Amino acid sequence: MGSLWGSIMLLCGLVLLRIEGSGAQQTKDNVPRLKLSYKDMLESNNLVTFEGLANSSAYHTFLLDEEKGRLVVGAKDHIFSFNLLNISRDYTQIPWLASPTRRDECKWAGKDLSRECSNFIKVLQPFNQTHLYVCGTGAFHPVCSYLEVGKKPEDSVFKLEPLIENGRGKSPYDPKLLTASMLIDGELYAGTSADFMGRDFAIFRTLGKHHPIRTEQHDSRWLNDPRFVGVHLIPESDNPEDDKIYLLFKENAMDGEHAGKATHARIGQLCKNDLGGHRSLVNKWTTFLKARLICSVPGSNGIDTHFDELQDVFLMSTKDPKSPIIYAVFTTSSNIFKGSAVCMYSMADIRRVFLGPYAHRDGPNYQWVPFQGRVPYPRPGTCPSKTFGGFDTTKDLPDEVVTFARSHPAMFNPVYPINNRPIIVKTDVDYQFTQIVVDKVEAEDGQYDVMFIGTDMGTILKVVSIPRGSWHDLEEVLLEEMTVFREPTAIKAMELSTKQQQLYLGSDIGVSQMPLHRCEVYGKACAECCLARDPYCAWDGTECSRYFPMAKRRTRRQDIRNGDPLTQCSDLQHHDELSGQATLLDKSVYGVENSSTFLECSPKSQRALTYWQYQHSTDDRKQEIKSEERFIRTDQGLLIRTLNKKDSGIYLCQAVEHGFIQTLLKVTLEVIDTERLEDLLHRDEAAAAAAVVPARDLSPPQETPTQRLWYRDFLSLVNHPTLSSVDEFCEQVWKRERKHRRQKAQLVQQVQTHQQHQQQQKVVNPRTHMHAQGLAAKWKHLQERQKGRNRRTHELERAPRSV
Ligand SMILES: *[C@@H]1O[C@H](CO)[C@@H](O)[C@H](O)[C@H]1NC(C)=O
Ligand SMILES: *[C@@H]1O[C@H](CO)[C@@H](O)[C@H](O)[C@H]1NC(C)=O
Ligand SMILES: *[C@@H]1O[C@H](CO)[C@@H](O)[C@H](O)[C@H]1NC(C)=O
Ligand SMILES: *[C@@H]1O[C@H](CO)[C@@H](O)[C@H](O)[C@H]1NC(C)=O
Repeated sequence: MGSLWGSIMLLCGLVLLRIEGSGAQQTKDNVPRLKLSYKDMLESNNLVTFEGLANSSAYHTFLLDEEKGRLVVGAKDHIFSFNLLNISRDYTQIPWLASPTRRDECKWAGKDLSRECSNFIKVLQPFNQTHLYVCGTGAFHPVCSYLEVGKKPEDSVFKLEPLIENGRGKSPYDPKLLTASMLIDGELYAGTSADFMGRDFAIFRTLGKHHPIRTEQHDSRWLNDPRFVGVHLIPESDNPEDDKIYLLFKENAMDGEHAGKATHARIGQLCKNDLGGHRSLVNKWTTFLKARLICSVPGSNGIDTHFDELQDVFLMSTKDPKSPIIYAVFTTSSNIFKGSAVCMYSMADIRRVFLGPYAHRDGPNYQWVPFQGRVPYPRPGTCPSKTFGGFDTTKDLPDEVVTFARSHPAMFNPVYPINNRPIIVKTDVDYQFTQIVVDKVEAEDGQYDVMFIGTDMGTILKVVSIPRGSWHDLEEVLLEEMTVFREPTAIKAMELSTKQQQLYLGSDIGVSQMPLHRCEVYGKACAECCLARDPYCAWDGTECSRYFPMAKRRTRRQDIRNGDPLTQCSDLQHHDELSGQATLLDKSVYGVENSSTFLECSPKSQRALTYWQYQHSTDDRKQEIKSEERFIRTDQGLLIRTLNKKDSGIYLCQAVEHGFIQTLLKVTLEVIDTERLEDLLHRDEAAAAAAVVPARDLSPPQETPTQRLWYRDFLSLVNHPTLSSVDEFCEQVWKRERKHRRQKAQLVQQVQTHQQHQQQQKVVNPRTHMHAQGLAAKWKHLQERQKGRNRRTHELERAPRSV
């Protein structure tokens, strides 16, 4: 027995055992059911890409116009207009560069010419029926203009007006800074920085008929190095006078709020009709209030893990326009502990916090406490209107209200998420969340919010949260993980078109488009469709297809809540088909005694657990194969390390998902004993000397180039025993082992042919002859199998594994 081969297999075995021991087989809840690579996505026609221009980048500012069927994208030095049907079909672009003078000034100021001294488009907002308002960094000199897009889709106008306005307080100077803006009724609300140094951060209102207005300057109680993530208008009552603007941002914790440096996520509010104060806070907001957003999980040691780095927010509308659900994506601040979470907030909770105690402290060395004194009337933060305030404009506010508002911009209580915890937490992965959009999907058994989460690795996660028993017990089901950019890059923009049923993604390197659902990828059986639990999809009697709640067809089978194919599909097909027997792969495999073999079996669904059963012959009792020294269960299949003659028999690979068992594969293994093989191999010395290396004999490591390679790999592995390289190595070993087996089969085939040739010339021992005949049939069969398997393996590399 080759000791090197033995060691390698042992090493792989140990690693696999460690993975199994760590519970990888048991905790599959956080694993995406389907994982589609960039290649999978392209080849299955589920991805359309715009690969970007050589002279542009940062495709980060999106404006979706469903009526005109266009996606307008702001990037470095360009504005694009894409067709929503297919972004690669007909798009137009407008170059918008900073002037050479500005670029020179920017360079002289010590900025990086190519990365900073360009015009990065940061604001793209609908202005009126025919024009958009657009602003860019203008090489550290913000500029704005109007972009004509026409009234109707047929107008097909896309033209930048030559008129350039000052972009200060609208777009940041520095392209790296996070800003958020929204244009409502001709006025632009923007959270941004308004100076070259990037120190004067504020929430501005510019444009329109009023004097520009902003937050108090250089007061860290108001804003402390904020990074803005979103701006939204949310009505407070049926009276538009009460309309409020909400800003979502993160900032440094206020002095005295936290020991050391910390980031806090915030929600800020303003009245849309705030005109500033009369004597104090002139042209400053008088209704600004902010509160901390908490997204944390309790730790076992009593210390909560906080997700404070707010990355993105999405407002999911409900029947009541006053109460959208706020979905927010967070990551951790820690460099060591990488994690992401999604938390949901209700407007009722947010309003309750803004109506609660103000944060107060008596001086720089005091603690922040809830303000206990008398709050002046009208309560700061209330909008001037007939509904609540009984005053007409903020300019009429009593001085004591304005004074109080100025020194108490923060609320004492934080806003906790719905159910007091995140709906999704991811900590064991090498990526972090960056973006989120949510779609409300009508399914047979109710309405579901399907989340599309973008990551910093160019992937999208499709997640549905399903109530287990009540609203308070949500089960998060990770349906798919898809790679949508050709290389790992952070997803920085995301828009969902309900009309097109498409998702649009922006990154540094380009724009991608993908459908919201791909029901056909789930499989060709009712059970598979049902197990997928994708609210967009249902079994229509013949295939897994898009579910439309309107079509009242009785044959539609869908069960999002339970994903139970037994109740949904059992009457449709006979039991065999239901349990997957119809698509059962039945194959024969030959192994050589004392060598190892790998029975490949991995379910299409990454959520399914696999287990193996063995029976000696068809009528014998089946027994489960447990991982032990010789049998190693992996996610890819079963590895049998040292084959015994008594291992011959039938191996059944079963997938269990959601309590539903499917037999995926039936392998009949026959172990050939070494003597006979040796016998065969040595019969023809010439053939044996051919460039074929029997996998089981690797002990002298200098023998052939192949062996040398192996030896080198092995040594490098010993020097760098990291888990991932061992994993990769084992993958390679398995691949090579397959190749070796293939070569061996070919060799035997050659031997066989040679024997047959010899037979015609001399008399042979009849027993050997018979034996050789039998083997010949077997090896021929094996070779056929190998061919078939190669074809399949090839197919499998492209498409998700078909069951
Ligand atoms: C989009 O357009 C490109 C170029 O015309 C075409 O190759 C591709 O098939 C289209 N994709 C879809 C999904 O329509
Ligand atoms: C960038 O390159 C494209 C062609 O690839 C060209 O149409 C465009 O005008 C260029 N933009 C600038 C600002 O030079
Ligand atoms: C929209 O605004 C632009 C820029 O101010 C102006 O030229 C255009 O006439 C306006 N269009 C309409 C329909 O008001
Ligand atoms: C197979 O391995 C066993 C145990 O190590 C050994 O006793 C036996 O001789 C080996 N068989 C052959 C043919 O090498």
